[in-house]
Amino acid sequence: MTNVIVLVGTGSIGQAIARRVGAGKHFLLADLRQENADAAAKTLGEAGFDVSTATVDVSSRASVEALVQNATSIGDVLGVIQDGWRRDRGLLVRRTRTETGEEVTQNIKDKVVVITGASSGLGEATARHLAPLGAKLILGARRIDRLQALARELSLGQDAVVQTDVTQREQVKRLVDHAVQAHGRIDVLINNAGLMPQSLFEQGKVDEWDRMIDVNIKGVLYGIAAALPYMKERKSGHIINVSSVAGHKVGPGSGVYAATKYAVRALSEGLRQEVKPYNIRTTIISPGAVATELPNTITDTEVAKRVRGLYEQVAIPADSFARVVAFAISQPEDVDINEILFRPTRQEY
Ligand SMILES: NC(=O)c1ccc[n+]([C@@H]2O[C@H](COP(=O)([O-])OP(=O)(O)OC[C@H]3O[C@@H](n4cnc5c(N)ncnc54)[C@H](OP(=O)(O)O)[C@@H]3O)[C@@H](O)[C@H]2O)c1
Repeated sequence: MTNVIVLVGTGSIGQAIARRVGAGKHFLLADLRQENADAAAKTLGEAGFDVSTATVDVSSRASVEALVQNATSIGDVLGVIQDGWRRDRGLLVRRTRTETGEEVTQNIKDKVVVITGASSGLGEATARHLAPLGAKLILGARRIDRLQALARELSLGQDAVVQTDVTQREQVKRLVDHAVQAHGRIDVLINNAGLMPQSLFEQGKVDEWDRMIDVNIKGVLYGIAAALPYMKERKSGHIINVSSVAGHKVGPGSGVYAATKYAVRALSEGLRQEVKPYNIRTTIISPGAVATELPNTITDTEVAKRVRGLYEQVAIPADSFARVVAFAISQPEDVDINEILFRPTRQEY
């Protein structure tokens, strides 16, 4: 089957992207004007690329759909690169479109992505977002019934889930090993599992402090320990660690939670510097208030009331986080998005 990439906008940037994507595929070069497509076909053809041409008006949905139709008649469409068609607004848009015309982000399809804490909240939302984009998901958490239901719903297959307690080093290794056994590699590890039982120090909730350190810090470290050897060997991989606004700011009641999230940022920065020789990418994502089950982990009634109040007022849906993950993953291999901090627009803290 011929692998087809559609390039919309055949100017110099579009051609550079095609060269970057590499030969070995068929490029359908589409432009508003046939002569532009022909010129690009000549240049890329001379460079050894397999090409054909088409015209398209991207302001017309029907025209774009006809183009996608044309591409599918040539072969298996890997993606559509849209370049330069709104250059007047200074935008460079690189997206792909599935055969049904649904937009998908590039560079996610077929990536093997392991997510810890995928049974609810941000991890679950990320699985929901990445599955239709063609990622090969391996999901971990303790609540296996939730993971199984999610895998069924997303048609992932039951071997896409592994019951995992991230405080148990061998269980995290088993999760990552499972991804490699099932798919031959791990491309992305999202160290997302975490909990936030905030309380005042004077409450002396030492067990909860221990728990946060075990899950939020040691769980992340176990993930890195499990994935790094595989990524190092392949000189490829991406580790995404979930921190928080609390990894940037401390308030009353959040001392220990914030300490764990500051730790995530510190260890991620150390990791970033060390893995340069191995072509491994590292991303810290620090969300503000996102509507998940996280506040349920708070046992101090006063703190719980305050946090719930904030969440009720400002929290945004969990797919906000999933889109940030997709943005980081979808960058070209030589672009390393190291840190993203995002909040609900209405969140002051
Ligand atoms: N929501 C926010 O506003 C927000 C803001 C900043 C940062 N974060 C961070 O985002 C991450 C995800 O939290 P969330 O908001 O999605 O909360 P959530 O809905 O409570 O999800 C937490 C996830 O972590 C998993 N988990 C907890 N302990 C675990 C353990 N020992 N082993 C394996 N998995 C464990 C849970 O699964 P099981 O219980 O099934 O194991 C669940 O899937 C956390 O690191 C959190 O600190 C969230």
